[in-house]
Amino acid sequence: QEELFKKLISHCKEYGFIFPSSEIYDGLAAVYDYGQLGVELKNNIKRYWWDAMTKLNDNIVGIDAAIFMHPRTWEASGHVGAFNDPLIDNRDSKKRYRADVLIEEWIAKQEEKIVKEVEKAAKRFGESFSEEQFRATNGRVLELQQRIDETTERMAKSLTDNDLDGVKQIIVDLEIVCPISGTRNWTDVRQFNLMFETKMGASAEAASTIYLRPETAQGIFVNFLNVQKSGRMKIPFGIAQIGKAFRNEIVARQFIFRMKEFEQMEMQFFIAPGTELEWYEHWKQFRMRWHQALGFGEQHYKFHNHAKLAHYANAACDIEYEFPFGFKEVEGIHSRTDFDLGNHQKFSGKKIQYFDTEKGESYVPFVVETSIGVDRMFLQVMSASLKEEKLENGEERTVLAIPAPIAPVKVAVLPLVKKDGLPEMARAIINDLKFEHNCQYDEKDSIGKRYRRQDAIGTPFCITIDHQSLEDKTVTIRHRDSMTQERVSIDAVAGIIGEAVNM
Ligand code: GAP
Repeated sequence: QEELFKKLISHCKEYGFIFPSSEIYDGLAAVYDYGQLGVELKNNIKRYWWDAMTKLNDNIVGIDAAIFMHPRTWEASGHVGAFNDPLIDNRDSKKRYRADVLIEEWIAKQEEKIVKEVEKAAKRFGESFSEEQFRATNGRVLELQQRIDETTERMAKSLTDNDLDGVKQIIVDLEIVCPISGTRNWTDVRQFNLMFETKMGASAEAASTIYLRPETAQGIFVNFLNVQKSGRMKIPFGIAQIGKAFRNEIVARQFIFRMKEFEQMEMQFFIAPGTELEWYEHWKQFRMRWHQALGFGEQHYKFHNHAKLAHYANAACDIEYEFPFGFKEVEGIHSRTDFDLGNHQKFSGKKIQYFDTEKGESYVPFVVETSIGVDRMFLQVMSASLKEEKLENGEERTVLAIPAPIAPVKVAVLPLVKKDGLPEMARAIINDLKFEHNCQYDEKDSIGKRYRRQDAIGTPFCITIDHQSLEDKTVTIRHRDSMTQERVSIDAVAGIIGEAVNM
């Protein structure tokens, strides 16, 4: 799996999906640039999300708020006071870790042990095996589960109480060793605020500190009344947004999984108080279906309910995807209560309420949000799609089986030879298709090599023009995943591609 992940990172670079930022200066930690194919895939992912939100739901509208916001926003949102990571250093390796992540990794290891026990027992008992019964009665499993539960509860409490000594004590008690040096030589835990600061104003003296937004959500909350009034929106309704967010992540790891500059796709759904758990459940299911509709296999997704709730939430879970480095968060679904709107009302002194004509009363709406990282979604698509296949003839091929609707290039048009009018015919076909689909023209190298190049960037269709095409106006269409080829009339091409790429 580790090999696969390394391969994925180099594949992203080799084919123009992702480059390290400012690479000629040796890069900038945890910052990346999207290349010519990366930006196409990213745009398609954003479109897939945007349509699912604003087209499938007639009560969701979009906005695009500024990255800079009034500094008071971040006091009201709690980010100035509470948006911290608990960090711990190992004295020997001089490496820095997030204390909560070290503990979570320990928990994940215990969970793996339970799964192994279950697998062993299933083999031993065969058909008569009931996992549920085994989990409820096996001494070793019960013991592991109890330690997991106790630790989870202890961590949640220490983090909620901002008890940093308590967090360190958990690491000591669990005898967690540094992944690099293997020692237990930990420093104390410190809080570290994740917001980037900059100055706004003409002169240094007059300038005031402002922040780069650490989430897009606040741009929606401060615009709640603007949108509700101008759009005459009735609760329940949602506001969706896609945009950049910034976090000074100290422990940046795993390629684009955790970046300092990244993009979020967030939707805040405004509802009547008391209906939040119902809507929370609704959005959990809706969002899981959105992920699974891409067809990467349902077994690669799971919900992870939060034991530790963020400073604004009363229920929260993640949708996790099974990356090459394990199940990890792609999206969060949070019931944020009236925390944000209530605080903005308090901090701004403006009334932020909704008059509910059915109830005949005004209230501060509650919010359920869905929040997904574009870059993590990108990584999910790449991890799920990159495959090394052994073919029947003994050859190997690298293929990116990206679902056709989000593939960066939809079709490559390839003249078999560079003469006899075949290139002209290929160009004419592209001219017909290019307003609908991103097309590539390629005439270099053998046809087999050209197919492999298109496989490697995930192009679902290749159209080959040969001499017969000149005579009978037919072409060969090759399907990326099955590698099957069929001869079809040129007139049928647009229809075949159109059907596959529309969600
Ligand atoms: N408004 C709620 C919010 O921002 P979050 O769980 O902190 O919640 C939501 O972030 C999503 O944003 C995450 O599930 C993840 O996909 C993405 N995300 C957060 N931090 C990130 C980072 N440093 N790099 C890449 N994506 C990140």
